[in-house]
Amino acid sequence: MTVLDMRFVPDPILRRQARKIGKVLPRLNKFIDDMIETMHAEMGVGLAANQVGSLQKVAVIQLPDWEEPLILINPEITRQEGEREVEEGCLSIPGYRGMVKRSVSVRARAIGLDGKIIRIKADGLLAQALEHETGHLKGQLYIDHLVTPDSLYKITHTAEDDSEAEDEAEATEANPPDNTGSSLEDKAK
Ligand code: NI
Repeated sequence: MTVLDMRFVPDPILRRQARKIGKVLPRLNKFIDDMIETMHAEMGVGLAANQVGSLQKVAVIQLPDWEEPLILINPEITRQEGEREVEEGCLSIPGYRGMVKRSVSVRARAIGLDGKIIRIKADGLLAQALEHETGHLKGQLYIDHLVTPDSLYKITHTAEDDSEAEDEAEATEANPPDNTGSSLEDKAK
């Protein structure tokens, strides 16, 4: 498996719509393995193909307490309910986090590597990750969903440093929400 090169804002591929995959061909396996390897290397909870330079409509998600990643081919959100404000980051926008509006719960549909349809009902971090990754595949970024234009802030530390460097951590422009102990919400996608 290979760790792929990440694409960062303002790379235009992040603003392009992914193309639906017509047939799950064997070579897709290798690419998805590499996506998973990259997500792990970057300590993300999710990754969409355009973040590694491909317009195939594929995303992977692995929440911190999961042993296996979820592989989503042609994922679509089919239903969104409620609204909430959550903190979010993205591997393609390093050094920043923001408060965004997301749904309370979602339903999603995708195809798995075996070609079978996967239906997902989710809330919490999984709902957020599904909205985030399907957004990427439509050329959207979380910064499109900010609660207010100034709810984006710079971070000068990574979530992983929080335990040691809580006191030195400096946020600029705005006070970050208290994220002590909420490591789930701290992970970038
Ligand atoms: Ni992202």
